[in-house]
Amino acid sequence: MSITVSESRFRLDTADTTYLFQKTAFGHLESLHYGRKIPEGDVESLRYKHEIPFGSAVLYDESKDASYCLDELPLEWSGVGKGDFRTAPIEIRMPDGSFTCDFVYDSHRVETGAPKMQTLPQSTGEEAESLIVTLKDAVFPVYVDLIYTVYEKENVIARRAVVRNEAEESVLLNQIMSYSLDLMDRSYTVTTLSGAWIREAHVVERPLRAGALVNESTSHSQHGNNPALALAVQDATEESGDVYGFNLLYSGNHRTTVELGQAGIVRITGGVNPHCFLWELKKGESFETPEAVLTYSCRGKNGMSQNFHAFVQNRVVRGDWQKKERPILINNWEANFFQFRQNSLLRLAQQGKKLGCELFVLDDGWFGARNTDTAGLGDYTVNPKKLPNGLDGLGKRINEKGMQFGLWFEPENVNDDSDLYRAHPDWAIQRPNRKPSLGRHQKLLDLTKREVRDYIVENVTKILDSCPISYVKWDMNRKVSDFLDGAFLHRYLIGYYEVLTRIFRPRQQILFEGCASGGGRFDLGQLCFSQQIWSSDDTDPIERLKIQGGLSLFYPISTMGAHVSLAPHQQTLRNTPLSTRFAVAAFGAFGLELDPKDLTPIERKSLRAMLETYRTIRKTCQFGKFSRVETGNDYTVQWQAQTEKQTVVLRVKTIVPAAQKNDLLEVKGLSPEKMYTLEQVSTPLFVSGFGTLLKHILPVTIRSYSHLLLAVNKYLKMDDYKETYRASGAQFMAGIRLHRSFIGTGYSDKMHMQGDDSAMLFIITEE
Ligand code: GLA
Repeated sequence: MSITVSESRFRLDTADTTYLFQKTAFGHLESLHYGRKIPEGDVESLRYKHEIPFGSAVLYDESKDASYCLDELPLEWSGVGKGDFRTAPIEIRMPDGSFTCDFVYDSHRVETGAPKMQTLPQSTGEEAESLIVTLKDAVFPVYVDLIYTVYEKENVIARRAVVRNEAEESVLLNQIMSYSLDLMDRSYTVTTLSGAWIREAHVVERPLRAGALVNESTSHSQHGNNPALALAVQDATEESGDVYGFNLLYSGNHRTTVELGQAGIVRITGGVNPHCFLWELKKGESFETPEAVLTYSCRGKNGMSQNFHAFVQNRVVRGDWQKKERPILINNWEANFFQFRQNSLLRLAQQGKKLGCELFVLDDGWFGARNTDTAGLGDYTVNPKKLPNGLDGLGKRINEKGMQFGLWFEPENVNDDSDLYRAHPDWAIQRPNRKPSLGRHQKLLDLTKREVRDYIVENVTKILDSCPISYVKWDMNRKVSDFLDGAFLHRYLIGYYEVLTRIFRPRQQILFEGCASGGGRFDLGQLCFSQQIWSSDDTDPIERLKIQGGLSLFYPISTMGAHVSLAPHQQTLRNTPLSTRFAVAAFGAFGLELDPKDLTPIERKSLRAMLETYRTIRKTCQFGKFSRVETGNDYTVQWQAQTEKQTVVLRVKTIVPAAQKNDLLEVKGLSPEKMYTLEQVSTPLFVSGFGTLLKHILPVTIRSYSHLLLAVNKYLKMDDYKETYRASGAQFMAGIRLHRSFIGTGYSDKMHMQGDDSAMLFIITEE
């Protein structure tokens, strides 16, 4: 039993955590504990003590209890105007026209499964237990259901709220959060994933001080501020310390507020952003908030991440691909942009196949007048010049090569220069009396309109059912503008989810990758439909360490699209080794985003070998237990993924110091007494990268600008020194002292010859 209700107390237990609250004498819900698992028993030590008279406070009911002040209580939910001056989870204009409201206990029930949501996606919890506590306003028949679903194994509590109006008069919702949680202050550090286009999900940490910290988006979930957030005690590390994690199953405008109040209580509220939000509830109507998910771990940030990874893999991601290894794909976008013909695509697919790719993805540009990003969006007619045999013809030819076929769509948007817009200008979101603001030369379609949703569903499904498509990339390349109000943004989202449900629920065999100019809609709402999301348009592996590393706090590796592209990189001009591009993308839903003909023959041969290796570690990298390993050096990033018999370790050095010492490779989680072998994946070194330093290795002098060197570079490579060891788990976990790196004093075949941005990939196998 994960839910116990006794006297006036509510207790939710997961494998490692306990969540406890109780009804006060006035019917408010007082939070007692959320954190490590505690045995049942007397909770007096957990109760917030407030018996002494207050200096300056608004008392809830002075005649009954002069020490009862809502501002000084840790609460599960709160209202407005009764003495709690912190962020309120609900702001509602009540039937008397006032915002004053006071929600107190009315009833409760425990159910098996998660109560079904009507409008939004939710986690899958058929066998989980749910507690529903109904609160009622002290004056009007306006109700709030607080719904808690307990995911025992994953250590996750899902929370949401439903407001119901039973009063004769309408009420107006101005703000309604999915949850409110009060914790005692412990000098927390707040972590968010912040950034921008091509710089998504960078970890930002700041100490929580008095006042409120807001993490929000006023469009869809966005590059700037991901909806996920963590709270860690000051000295928490990857491995130890108390860490709380919060996220939302919502792809829209979100807000999470963390407020340290004057009583030393931290309040966390999260849900739909109240920005411009107004929602009328007539008699009998209700409003459901998106599902929020909360976790706690005393095993540091990795503990929090591992809880969320299991939860997302088991309870959020669904469909045939939920737990299947992702095919190695080759996407034609960076190889072709809009310039391609059927034959050039088939050539690209053939080259990809030779390298070991399993899925060919045709990106933007296959329909209408889509030869630049200024036209064609909204139309679904295949461009006959580019694809004379249609998508079906192309798909079949790809299949004949032994590859699957995937296709790009951007159904939510429209260009002015499109047949769709010419026929239905009223389908785009714009205000009748204002000049609309475009994003990437396009307008957003109004998904609150039934006919728009039908148009998208009909056209996308027609294509999906008319050719052999086993993968879809669904893009969304602009933010929302020219909208009516916050309620419209929410209705748009409801429409969006309905469209996805109609298209993809009956087609579970399709692998679905979300995308919004890269990682602009990387969230759990989206992951209820797409098994993976394109993490960023930035494929520079050094940037990806930050992006994928940041996302890994809250999202499992299998959900992150990660591709090898050409270097120097499109956005950063950074010239990174092929082995680094491969190794970082290996911790993701892997693919290639390049034209192999831009690689030298020896680079192609090396890449083919890398993809062969990848197939042997793919399951571990994508679905193994993932940890970030602290290296004590800001310029060395280490990740590991572990299944029962195999551990894969990635170590990237972004800046190498001069006079390098023995590097110590730390490995975690092996069985001390078992025997293991460690083998480093071969790292090719391409000779042109060494310039005049070749003199250290070769008996003859070759000038760095000579034709001879360029010719040699095309066909010959060296392999970096490869570490191999055999030892017990205990010995490996004591740290592996790696061979030294080149420091300019001469060459040995037992040294590493890699500089900045170098990666090492190790495979540890249990015997
Ligand atoms: C967005 C995506 C890219 C690509 C282009 C196509 O930018 O993030 O991956 O699909 O659109 O226009």
